[in-house]
Amino acid sequence: MKYSAYYVEEIDGAFSASISELELEKPPDGFVQIQVSCSSLNYKDALSASGNKGVTRNYPFVPGIDAAGTISDANSSNFVEGDEVLVTGYDMGMNTPGGFGEFINVPANWVVKKPSALTSIEAMSIGTAGLTAAASVLKIQESSQESDLPVLVSGATGGVGSIGVMLMSKLDKEVTALTGKSSSADFLKSIGAKNVILRDDFLEGPVKPLERALFSSAIDTVGGNVLSKMLTQISPHGVVACCGNVAGIEVNTTVFPFILRGITLAGIDSAESSLEFKISVWKKFANEWKLDLSPIIKVVTKENLQHEIDLILQGGQQGRVVLKHGE
Ligand SMILES: NC(=O)c1ccc[n+]([C@@H]2O[C@H](COP(=O)([O-])OP(=O)(O)OC[C@H]3O[C@@H](n4cnc5c(N)ncnc54)[C@H](OP(=O)(O)O)[C@@H]3O)[C@@H](O)[C@H]2O)c1
Repeated sequence: MKYSAYYVEEIDGAFSASISELELEKPPDGFVQIQVSCSSLNYKDALSASGNKGVTRNYPFVPGIDAAGTISDANSSNFVEGDEVLVTGYDMGMNTPGGFGEFINVPANWVVKKPSALTSIEAMSIGTAGLTAAASVLKIQESSQESDLPVLVSGATGGVGSIGVMLMSKLDKEVTALTGKSSSADFLKSIGAKNVILRDDFLEGPVKPLERALFSSAIDTVGGNVLSKMLTQISPHGVVACCGNVAGIEVNTTVFPFILRGITLAGIDSAESSLEFKISVWKKFANEWKLDLSPIIKVVTKENLQHEIDLILQGGQQGRVVLKHGE
């Protein structure tokens, strides 16, 4: 049997993608087979799709770090055919073919039963970006001190950022959105930001060891000079959840934010978090953290995916892109 996939090939060092028909293989022991109904586009998918060997070592390859679908070959005592399931992260979409194909074979212990209160489209609107935003929110909730100052969210129009804004706002936090897109202020306010700061304004002037504390805590999805500056503006005992690097991998800081304000720089790795953690977060999204993500999603087919990949690589995406198969 054949299935259709967004398939990336390396030819003489150049990478190109096509919609290809691939041979479906039986899942090996310990694996289940899933007929994927939807996936989503994350920054990491765009890196895999464009030949970034830090993400995907060998090509040809089918990216897609998120998948929602139905068990088509259970091959495991934990599932039966027809179970509606979700998979995010681990090695899927990195070196294990992922959700940009209409079928996947993945280890059974990567798979979560889809909460019935979420549709597959809703689940993929959340996807890895949502789990990452949620992990960041939980880190901040665990450790930061109560403060009336706003929470800062960088890369605010992106996938992780926009869900971070929505979640913090749902939790009654005042949110300041930091964005590079001057045209997106209305969008950010419509999803819950109280204040919007443009990245160029935020970065103006040199980074001092400490500045006036303006934010209680922060979700940083970009790293680099934005994170360096942010660390100087967090109030005592605040938390900065560090989850991304689109602005750069280097951080310049002094020890002062840590020893004079006791702030915590908390690392987030949603892909490798435990299945129990993922299940607990999906449960929250299906219940007390239920969000209406329809204003931030764009649903596309495999045929339109390349344009969206190019856009995310240019830092130009707004919200989340959901890939719907079988259209
Ligand atoms: N640690 C984890 O577990 C985890 C999980 C998922 C994602 N991530 C990482 O989180 C980051 C965001 O992922 P995503 O899927 O949300 O990507 P995304 O949708 O492309 O969002 C990134 C946003 O960052 C801003 N941005 C883009 N280029 C920038 C630059 N040069 N300098 C500063 N800001 C820039 C843009 O927002 P504005 O225009 O609004 O500023 C952009 O929309 C990526 O680095 C990704 O690898 C980490």
